[in-house]
Amino acid sequence: MAQVSRIPLIAGNWKMNLDHLQAIATVQKLDWTLKDARHDYGAAGSEVAVFPPFTDLRSVQNLIAADKLDIVFGGQDLSEHEAGAYTGEISGAFLKGLDCTYVLIGHSERRTLHGETDQQLARKFSSAVKHGLVPVLCVGETADDLEVHGPSAVPVAQLRATLAGVTGTPNFVIAYEPVWAIGSGQAATPDQAEQVAATLRATVAELLGEETADATRILYGGSVKSSNIAGFMRQPNVDGALVGGASLDVTEFASIARFQKHVGT
Ligand code: 13P
Repeated sequence: MAQVSRIPLIAGNWKMNLDHLQAIATVQKLDWTLKDARHDYGAAGSEVAVFPPFTDLRSVQNLIAADKLDIVFGGQDLSEHEAGAYTGEISGAFLKGLDCTYVLIGHSERRTLHGETDQQLARKFSSAVKHGLVPVLCVGETADDLEVHGPSAVPVAQLRATLAGVTGTPNFVIAYEPVWAIGSGQAATPDQAEQVAATLRATVAELLGEETADATRILYGGSVKSSNIAGFMRQPNVDGALVGGASLDVTEFASIARFQKHVGT
């Protein structure tokens, strides 16, 4: 597969942490901390995204727009529906209206705690694309899956199921997050992440063509810290990270985002 330059993405999934006031302080501090790195490394660095809770989005939007911050943001989920009698749901149109760039789809916590199915996630994926949001599709195997099926089978099956009805050349991101690595302190090894990322990319090539596969960013997520990010960023098929716990600590998250992608170094 051709080696193309994909802009790395370092994304912080805040999960259900930080209210709107804490969000403002966190994004301000993040911008401030990243400025030095951007000054040192120039525009070649990673794109930095945060995924705050829904109730923070308006505050984050206003801050980023007013101060022209070089940080993008997205929702942690979206409804498969457009509007109507769906109490508690948030539509893609609403997220787009708040200038979200991205939206997470199928995080393992949504799959497990909210019973989201691959079929439902396929509809959410279409809805995100329809509203001009970039879906960040999360896939990953449990420890049991890993033992029974090996590392790639479940993530690839989840990817296939979500892309089943997709045509054309959608702009999307895949986050490979082994469930056993999330919040456990036990990250996958860079080699494990690379092996699954390469298989996911080959699957995108098979389903949507080489060009889309070359353009699609694949992130690793699961216990990423400043002390292990370098190993992941060195992998040719890993284009960044989806960071949970460590994204709540601005200094730590900025250290992760500082790591430059130097393939082969
Ligand atoms: P941790 O970085 O806390 O392991 O969480 C990963 C994650 O779930 C990001 O979406």
